[in-house]
Amino acid sequence: MGTSRMFRIFVVLGSAFMILLIIIYWDDVGASHFYLHTPVSPGPKVPHPVPQKRPQTSRAPSFLSDIDAFVNQFLEPGTGEPTDAAPADTSNQSEKAEERYIPRREWKIHLTPLAPELRDRQEQRRRLLQEMCANDSILFHGKNRSFDDIPNKELDHLIVDDRHGIIYCYVPKVACSNWKRIMIILSESLLQEGVPQRDPLAIPRDLVHNSSMHFTFNKFWKRYGKFARHLMKVKLKKYTKFLFVRDPFVRLISAYRNKFELPNEDFYRRFAQVMLRRYGNQPTPPASVDEAFSLGIHPSFSHFIQYLLDPQTEKDMPFNEHWRQVYRLCHPCQIQYDFVGHLETAEEDAEHLLRLLRVDNVVEFPTSSRNLTASSWESDWFSTVPVEARRELYKLYEPDFRLFGYEKPDSLLNE
Ligand SMILES: *[C@@H]1O[C@H](CO)[C@@H](O)[C@H](O)[C@H]1NC(C)=O
Ligand SMILES: *[C@@H]1O[C@H](CO)[C@@H](O)[C@H](O)[C@H]1NC(C)=O
Ligand SMILES: *[C@@H]1O[C@H](CO)[C@@H](O)[C@H](O)[C@H]1NC(C)=O
Ligand SMILES: *[C@@H]1O[C@H](CO)[C@@H](O)[C@H](O)[C@H]1NC(C)=O
Ligand SMILES: *[C@@H]1O[C@H](CO)[C@@H](O)[C@H](O)[C@H]1NC(C)=O
Repeated sequence: MGTSRMFRIFVVLGSAFMILLIIIYWDDVGASHFYLHTPVSPGPKVPHPVPQKRPQTSRAPSFLSDIDAFVNQFLEPGTGEPTDAAPADTSNQSEKAEERYIPRREWKIHLTPLAPELRDRQEQRRRLLQEMCANDSILFHGKNRSFDDIPNKELDHLIVDDRHGIIYCYVPKVACSNWKRIMIILSESLLQEGVPQRDPLAIPRDLVHNSSMHFTFNKFWKRYGKFARHLMKVKLKKYTKFLFVRDPFVRLISAYRNKFELPNEDFYRRFAQVMLRRYGNQPTPPASVDEAFSLGIHPSFSHFIQYLLDPQTEKDMPFNEHWRQVYRLCHPCQIQYDFVGHLETAEEDAEHLLRLLRVDNVVEFPTSSRNLTASSWESDWFSTVPVEARRELYKLYEPDFRLFGYEKPDSLLNE
């Protein structure tokens, strides 16, 4: 008993060490490979020593899977030996062996290349972001600071998945529940009868938004102490980073509908009462949301906009995340996002992104059947808001409009 246990530990440690070595030297192998294929001078073509190089690169992954198979033999009791009499047929045997040695996660094989439009679209969004960050005509608080100057508490929207090397900056009211669900599934932290949950929609809503389910950058401090910043920067460099955005005004309508048109005790007490008191001629608003709704009292959209424009609001506390600007949540000028999704093209973007992350074999983006706030409703919603207030509101959200390529809503602003 004791020796077999020791042996197992030895095998696992040994394998881990070998894998570590491979990871450490992987970059070098990749680099030399690349170097050999890059013509150094544009002279006459000489035959490349390609055939010599080729086997090495293709051997490495199979070597890895050999280790996997080797370790699995020891770790999985019972599967090491065929239980029934070994079949004489060798082709069947090899078939079986192949089945057993398939690594647990294989990348999905795509027969069609990614549509060039999708690739171009991402290229454009990333380039726009870079241009806007470099353009001095667009200014906002914190634009010039370095990543090190961002306080930890402002990094609480960056969810990290070390298993797949992914960082997601969540923006509330932009399909964030579904992307958080996907991050939970990828992290394999939620077990369903002993196996990781695989169905995004099976994760209950309150769990999705429970911060204990997500490992965010601001928690690094607790775990890694003074190495936290250094590690964050390494991860930001190596991992694939993404976020999803939407038209800023439509996002505000969506936030209002979700938090103030539906009874929400928390938001009623923290925000609706303040709005009613300040702008709604209600010195003593009803004590609970149920009471208020039964009396037909809730702040109007116009009150909500007034609240956002009131300088007192930010003095009391920073904007709530549901209406805080994306540039304040995700720091797009300090973090170079690899993928910028738009809610307006959510389905295509989700497919593209999951493929880019190489997790489209693990999880699918849930298609939403909910009634999304549409941009065509904008003029109706803003009809109660004075034009002057609309213009001020645009100024407040202008960086989001420009960083992410949303057109200035001239028809609303020039009435
Ligand atoms: C291989 O095994 C399958 C069952 O696993 C069996 O149905 C089939 O007849 C076998 N093939 C040969 C060529 O023996
Ligand atoms: C910055 O943005 C302004 C307004 O969009 C534009 O006119 C200008 O050319 C930009 N500057 C640079 C350097 O891109
Ligand atoms: C940011 O830098 C630009 C020039 O690079 C400067 O004009 C601007 O005042 C700076 N803004 C802040 C908030 O420091
Ligand atoms: C979040 O989850 C933790 C543990 O799963 C639980 O203790 C806590 O009460 C939850 N918080 C909320 C706000 O639901
Ligand atoms: C979505 O909501 C709008 C207005 O609230 C309504 O007119 C429309 O029929 C709804 N659409 C669906 C598919 O439920």
